Amino acid sequence: MDIVKESHRILKENRRRTDGHQYTLPSPDSYPYQWLWDSCFHAIVLARLEPEFAKEELRALVSRQFDDGMIPHMIYWQAGDLHRFEWGKDGTSALTQPPMIAHAVEQIYKSDGDKAFLKEIYPSLWKFYKYLIERRDPRKNHLASIINPDESGEDNSPRFDDVLGVKHNVSLDDHLKKRIELVEKNIKCNFDAENCMKNHFWVKDVPFNSIIIENLEVLERLALELKIPKDAEFCRNHILMMKAAMRKFMFENGVFWSTYSKDYIKIKVASWAHFAPLFAGIYSQEEAEAVVKNHLLNEETFKSPYGIRTVSKQEPSYHATAPSFSWRGPIWFAPHWFIYKGLLRYGFKKEAQEIHDASIKLLEKEGFREYYSPETGEGQGAMNFTWGTLITDMIEE
Ligand code: GLC
Repeated sequence: MDIVKESHRILKENRRRTDGHQYTLPSPDSYPYQWLWDSCFHAIVLARLEPEFAKEELRALVSRQFDDGMIPHMIYWQAGDLHRFEWGKDGTSALTQPPMIAHAVEQIYKSDGDKAFLKEIYPSLWKFYKYLIERRDPRKNHLASIINPDESGEDNSPRFDDVLGVKHNVSLDDHLKKRIELVEKNIKCNFDAENCMKNHFWVKDVPFNSIIIENLEVLERLALELKIPKDAEFCRNHILMMKAAMRKFMFENGVFWSTYSKDYIKIKVASWAHFAPLFAGIYSQEEAEAVVKNHLLNEETFKSPYGIRTVSKQEPSYHATAPSFSWRGPIWFAPHWFIYKGLLRYGFKKEAQEIHDASIKLLEKEGFREYYSPETGEGQGAMNFTWGTLITDMIEE
């Protein structure tokens, strides 16, 4: 299979244009809207193939940015779409998703050096990261909160079970009901984080915060490129404060754990979240070596013949099949990509290459699916799903 050609084909096939906005559907049958972190992945891949389309994808995203700076996690472009997640706003959801947009912008800039585009999009990035830093952290402890599991991008991850009040064998449908109930409560709160939403679901998630940190590193570079030193300094200070806060509130037994409530109670569910801080350089070299050896390469927990499980095989919530799978064990391409980048950051070239090769095998065996069984490699969930195209960005630079 020519992996680059196939990736390009999927992205072109899933491309749509509505009212002058161009965007890519993650999967035409299962996910027929625009999603925030998906569009960032698309832009990362398109940066090399068709940078002009990558720019369009991001322009469509920021065109629906809220006044307070939040970028919604879904945009329903077509009138009459089934708005299963129409959560309080006109034509968009009222939640956000892991903020990969600065990273995507830098990839485009690296590819074609278009400074005019950088200048055009920079104010939207700045407003978005400021929103996350300020509005999602009202007590100024330097960690950003998510208000719904969907904001993590890992909708039914068992990291959120206790906070959501579900059991380890909850079905996908029952789980969805709980998340929608949560949205209804937050609509009643008028999405006021500080005084109301924090009572319902207030989680400091490890991947979400790691992604902010890595993207602030990027934003710092972009600010310097645009000669805005005060913004760069703001980013640098927040990177340091957030890294220190992750260590203070989340670090235990050599790994980082997501936390909930204002008391920062650690959620002791072993998931790929342990590896997300590699992406942002948060572990020391020594800690990273231990994490890779004890967890990533451990066949009893994370390492499967087909790649890295999203949840440790030892967790009671681990499910490779129905009734509750999806983010409860199966292999997904985005975590593979984050782990790949994180491993290279620490010089684990061989281990990164193994993830790359396992990813290629999955694509060759099962095609572009939403996720894959770690036990049999079988493709599951949505078809023609775009995340597999991230393979084209899994290269050493
Ligand atoms: C699923 C994933 C989420 C993704 C969406 C669209 O809900 O859990 O991360 O953004 O599909 O692909």
